[in-house]
Amino acid sequence: MAQIIGYIGTSHIPAIGAAIAAHRQQDPYWKHFFDGYPPARQWLESNKPDVVVMFYNDHGLNFFLDKMPTFAVGAAAQYANADEGWGLPNFGTYRGYPELSWHILEQLLDDEFDPVSCQEMLVDHAFTVPMKLLWPDGNPDLRTVPIVINTVQHPLPSARRCFKFGQSVGRAIASWPERLKVLIMGTGGLSHQLDGQRAGFINKAFDMLCLEQIESQPEALTHYDTTELVRIAGTQGVELLNWIAARGALEGQVRRVHSHYHVPISNTAAALLVLERQPTTAPA
Ligand code: DHB
Ligand code: FE
Repeated sequence: MAQIIGYIGTSHIPAIGAAIAAHRQQDPYWKHFFDGYPPARQWLESNKPDVVVMFYNDHGLNFFLDKMPTFAVGAAAQYANADEGWGLPNFGTYRGYPELSWHILEQLLDDEFDPVSCQEMLVDHAFTVPMKLLWPDGNPDLRTVPIVINTVQHPLPSARRCFKFGQSVGRAIASWPERLKVLIMGTGGLSHQLDGQRAGFINKAFDMLCLEQIESQPEALTHYDTTELVRIAGTQGVELLNWIAARGALEGQVRRVHSHYHVPISNTAAALLVLERQPTTAPA
């Protein structure tokens, strides 16, 4: 049976990808940010997931403002990176897991969600930057299921809907018959606003609350409506919806392995949270 082993929430800022490509990890601007990631990599090294199911938002690469699915699930054998406009180097191609993707899609439809199924899908910085942060040397065996949530074009799905969507994905994984270790990821956030009068807006107090509540009481975050989230976290801070959806996939107890927070990277409060799922029954 497939087992969800943990959760990683991380920011996905394009400038991180540029810094990695230019080997700037030790520069004064970058050092503290990059120093946050080795503990996450150590946890991955000990726990070795077979599959990553990643919730994130597409930034105009597959879906532009003219056609915007609320939820889309990748169901391809592989996912190539392409440049959505930031001029980042190409981070290559990631292995898919179409059988698991279709199983997740079937569960979602059974649970009355109507996602778009994507048998072709490109991945942008919101997928590749977190992968590069966690597996800097790549991991060709790792299979992936990319799940895209609209956090870009209003109307957005509510936090409650995203959490329930994640719960449905969690149910699908729990009923997958093969023995697999699955890592759930949510990328984006935390607070940031890239344009408009409040460009550069960051809300550290809210970010701290999010890190706390994503760990210990994620449903508390589902009480904010999306307009409130824009007000509290910034126009792009609503990428928190990806973290909330991803957290919906984990049931039971979790333990915080590691967290890190650095303000700012580019215009964003950069955060990392690693949660380990605790066994439901005591070992014999
Ligand atoms: C930035 C942050 C993002 O989440 C993003 O998708 C693009 C840019 C930034 O802070 O520069
Ligand atoms: Fe983003």
